[in-house]
Order: sequence, then structure tokens, then C-alpha cells
Amino acid sequence: MKSMFDPLVIGTLSAKNSIVRAATAESLATASGRPTSKLFEKYEELAEGGVGTIITGYAFVTHDGKPSEGALGICDDAFADDYRELCELIHGHDARIVMQLVYGGSKSKLSPDDERRIAPATQTPADWVPNVSILGPSALENLKTHLVPTEASADDLTRIAQAFGAAAARAKSYGFDGVEIHAAHGYLLSQFMSRWFNVREDEYGGSLENRARLTIECVQAARRAAGDDFPILVKINNCDDYEDPAGARGGLSEDESATICHWLADAGASAIDVSGDWHAIRGRDVAGEPFFASFGARLARELDIPVIVTGGWRRFDTNEQHLADDGIAAIAMSRPFIREPDLVNRWLSGNTKPSKCTSCGYCATYVGIPCVFRQ
Ligand SMILES: Cc1cc2nc3c(=O)[nH]c(=O)nc-3n(C[C@H](O)[C@H](O)[C@H](O)COP(=O)(O)O)c2cc1C
Repeated sequence: MKSMFDPLVIGTLSAKNSIVRAATAESLATASGRPTSKLFEKYEELAEGGVGTIITGYAFVTHDGKPSEGALGICDDAFADDYRELCELIHGHDARIVMQLVYGGSKSKLSPDDERRIAPATQTPADWVPNVSILGPSALENLKTHLVPTEASADDLTRIAQAFGAAAARAKSYGFDGVEIHAAHGYLLSQFMSRWFNVREDEYGGSLENRARLTIECVQAARRAAGDDFPILVKINNCDDYEDPAGARGGLSEDESATICHWLADAGASAIDVSGDWHAIRGRDVAGEPFFASFGARLARELDIPVIVTGGWRRFDTNEQHLADDGIAAIAMSRPFIREPDLVNRWLSGNTKPSKCTSCGYCATYVGIPCVFRQ
């Protein structure tokens, strides 16, 4: 029976336990995406706290794909020395580190002083005018950011897939133990899979196969560039099917997402990291069960590659129960580590009280992700 404290093995990645720090953007990189000393401190604190594997906050693979201020960047080798140092630091604490790769698309948060925005500055998001092409599957307004993306051409999509590949090869050369392709939470790759955002009529739209094509091409590009044995994880939504206020059709069903996971495994993905739509995450009850455990268990039954499940893990006994029963490889937590970076060591010491995280979500609104409750 699997426990949180059993090793996690994903290809060449071998971690001392099966507890993962889920990708969490700390907003602690410079404007161009270089990690700062504050970010190093956060990661060292996490590694000292006993977590087996840290997935970094999202790192943009092209400059136009930057998702938010303070995000990490991996568009070229400019930060090679910084990332090498970061990997060495984490490995020195017997932890593993996986870099999450992203292309933001129309979910990108362009702050008023974002260099990619055209003046005059206003405080009204609806008036923010990007001065770069924010690419999307279709030129539909993103109701969260009010950005209207430019419909990506086939050449754009080839460039994006190649950029994911190049970033994976870079991450490997710097010493990262794997990469995670971010195909969840409404960023570009998940938009392609979703009928909410994708109304294309070419080979990247319409059928499920077409809507999954870009993510599969990113996995294939990463596999080609980083080699056969390098761990390539994919984070994906269980579905994108929340009720639209206007009563419009669903974006992606759980069955469709499961089918895509099979295709991703066939394309060379080393593991699937199950998450879900951020609307769903926000709405979850504080003391509730892990958000996507049942979908994770289903995937674990169906797939031959490891399944990590992210979101809502707060209770020691619940976590142990799901790991023992569901066939999943690991649990991943974000906010519990913001509240208590040493949560794993606390649990290991025998104090198995639940995470102190109340899931309030305020951490997501501040640079440096402080916890308002943390003393
Ligand atoms: C401050 C903050 C930043 C986040 N940044 C990322 C990110 O960069 N990439 C990602 O895939 N998810 C990101 N997430 C989502 C988490 O990885 C996770 O899916 C979500 O918080 C649910 O897990 P939890 O209940 O353990 O917090 C972020 C969440 C928070 C709170």
C-alpha cells in the first residue's frame, strides 16, 4: 500500500517521498524572467521542509507567452547559470526540481506597466491594449482578462511547439529533474482543448483529436529535444465544463480529458498531473476532500504512466487513504506549503494535524505569495 513517505519514481526522477509541491508562481522573477534571490530563499525553505519534489512556478517558453509579472522565463540561455545554481541548491537538500513550462495566451495578466502593453495607461482592464500578438486558438475575448487574442497561424503553432521542446532541452541541461508542460488552468494549451476558446476549423480545431493536437505536438517536441528518458509531465484539467452564465456549451468533458491523457501517454508523456479548472478550485470548500481525486483514480486505473493529483489535499489520513487505495503515484499541494513550508517534516515528526491552510486564496493576489495567516 502506497504512502506519502514512499519514494516517487517517474522515469529518471527518483524522489524520497511522494509529496510534490505543485507549480506555484511566486512572482519573484525579474521582468525578463530571471529568478531572484528571494525566489532562491523560498525554494530552499521548501526543500528544507521535507518535500520530495518541487515543481517551479510557470516559466514562459517565448517572450510573447509570458503569463504574468514576475514569472520565470526560459526562452533562451540567458539564465542558465541561475537555474544551474537553483538545481544544485535543491539537490543539496535531497529534493528534486521540475520546471513547469507555459505559454500564457489570452489568460496572461498584463499589468498597467507591462512592457507588452500600449500606453496610455489606464486602470481599466478593458482598455489594456497589448502591443504584442497575444495568440489564441480563436479571436474570442477572454472574459477574465478582456484580451482578444490573435488567432494563431499554423506557423505560430509550430514555433510554440518548438519553443516547448527547446525549453525542455535547456531545463535538462541545467540539471532540472524533469519538466511539466502546463496544459491546464485556461492557459494556451488548455484553451486549444476547450470548445469555449477554440472554434477553429483547421486541423487544430473541431474534433477532440484536433483540439489536442497542439499539446501532443509540444510533448513530442519536448521528447525529441530532451531525449528518451527525460521526465516530461503534463498538467491537465479534469474538465473545462463549468456552467457558462449564458448557458453555452461545455468546453471539455472528463471523458474527453481522459482520452487526451491516453494520447499524451502514447506521445511520450512520462506522467500526468491532474488539476482542474480554476473556477472549480476557487469554489471548493475549505475542509473538503481533494478536488480531483476521483478523476485521478480513474486515470491511474486506465494509464500505464504515473498519475499525480493536485489540489485540495489537507488531511494526513485522507491523503494516505487515497494513495493507498487509488493507484496514484503522488499528491501535489500548493497553498499548504505557502502556509507551512515545513509541512512534510511536521507530518514526518508525528504531528499529523491537517494543513493549516484555509484555502482562502489571498496568497494568489500578492507578489511573493505571502500567507496572510502565517506568523
Ligand atoms: C499563488 C499561486 C500560484 C499558482 N501558480 C501556478 C502555476 O504557476 N502553475 C500551475 O500549474 N498552477 C499554479 N497554481 C495552482 C496550483 O498549482 C494548484 O493547482 C492549486 O492551488 C490547487 O492546489 P492547492 O489546493 O494545493 O492549493 C497556483 C496557485 C497559487 C495559490
